Formats: sequence, C-alpha cells, structure tokens
Amino acid sequence: MDLVESIKSRKSIRGYQPTPVPQETLTQILEIATRAPSATNTQPWKFTILGGKTLEKLKSALQRQGMAGVEPHPDFGLNPHLTGVYRNRQVEVGKSLFQLMGIAREDKKKRTEWELKMLRFFDAPNAIIISLDEEASSFLYVFSLGAVSQTIALAAVNFGLGTCIEYIPVHYPEIVRQITGIPESQKIAIGIAIGYPDWDFPANKFQSAREPLVNVATWKNV
Ligand SMILES: Cc1cc2nc3c(=O)[nH]c(=O)nc-3n(C[C@H](O)[C@H](O)[C@H](O)COP(=O)(O)O)c2cc1C
Repeated sequence: MDLVESIKSRKSIRGYQPTPVPQETLTQILEIATRAPSATNTQPWKFTILGGKTLEKLKSALQRQGMAGVEPHPDFGLNPHLTGVYRNRQVEVGKSLFQLMGIAREDKKKRTEWELKMLRFFDAPNAIIISLDEEASSFLYVFSLGAVSQTIALAAVNFGLGTCIEYIPVHYPEIVRQITGIPESQKIAIGIAIGYPDWDFPANKFQSAREPLVNVATWKNV
C-alpha cells in the first residue's frame, strides 16, 4: 500500500475478529518497525508479544484490578488533568465513541464495561507490550518509543491489521510483569492491541478529528 494512503487510513481499532495474527506476520511487522529512528540509534525498545493463553491470563488479571477499583499506578506517571483545548479534544473522543457504542452518559454499568474492555486490549487476539531498560528510560528514549509505535501501527495497516496504542493496560505494571515475565529492571511504557479489525464494531466507524494545520503550525520562513 502507498505510504500516504497507509498513514491516512490508519486509525485506532477498538473491535477485533478473534483470529490470531500469525507469528510470522507479527515478526515481519516488528522487523519493519524497528527501522524507526531512535535517539543516537539506541533502539531502546523491548517488545513482548502476547497471544493465546498468556494474553487471556493478562486480560483477566487486568480486568480483576479494574473491577476491584485498584488505583492505576503506571511506571510512567499518571495522565494529568487536562484543561482547555486538550480537555475538549479528549472529551470529543470519549463522547463520539460512547455515542457510536450506544453508551449513555449516565449509564455507569456500560461505561465500566467499556473501561474493562480497554483493559482487555479491546479483546484483540494479540498485543505488544513495549518496555525499556530503566537506565534508558528518560525523555529521549521514551520519545523513541513513540516513533516505533507509530511505525508498528503503519506497518500493520499494510497487512490488513488494525491496532490501538493503549496506555490503560499498563496502569498495573506489576500485573503485566507477573504474567509476561518482563523483569523489574524494565519500565513498562505502552501496550498495542493488534488484530484483524471487526469493521461491524460500531467504535471502528469513528474517525477522529484533526486541528487544521493553521492552528498548530507557525511559519517563519521569510
Ligand atoms: C500514547 C497513546 C496512548 C493511548 N491510549 C489509549 C487508550 O488507553 N485507550 C484508547 O481507547 N485509545 C488510546 N489511544 C488512542 C487515541 O485515543 C487515538 O490515537 C486518538 O484518539 C486519535 O485517533 P486515531 O488513532 O483513530 O487517529 C492512545 C494513543 C496514544 C498515542
């Protein structure tokens, strides 16, 4: 697929077919994605690729934490409370997804179910956890994980796959470590749900908005 077309057609996928992604395909995606740039070519990323019973175990364990109301305590700080345009954009995503999913604002039960689905990697058949060594976990290295994450998401499009880069499943890093064997010496940064999209899933119809370039770009070129 043409690069621009892949970039434009990628979007977060929140409903998946149960078919597992072949290991060979996941390998190819990761091999392609590790061409991503990284600060001084440190390639600080570590991937833990999950599927089968291990992923099922993790989904259940994370869901238990969510149901028990355990406070999130990710390795990389909590999301601060946003205001202004950032809050507006955040609210817009939530509102649109809930509308598509038929979740009313006051329907606590359905909202909780959605939160739990998020913890379960949106029930994707596979997931990738990206972690990095404690010694290479400062800004430049975490920034580099952003580059590789987007490259994974784009490479996935090429194989007819959907992804959702997700922060929520790394809210409970000790659970992720316990089940995946990721050592204490690594910080758990982000999760990526991956699988074949279920295009009938209502949330997958969502197309998020973008601010017009004029509002985010400043030209000083004369
Ligand atoms: C660092 C990061 C964390 C994210 N975490 C979540 C998440 O926990 N749950 C979720 O539904 N989407 C998550 N997303 C997806 C964003 O909501 C999504 O990228 C954004 O709304 C733009 O939509 P698009 O990806 O469809 O273009 C995350 C994206 C990024 C880059």
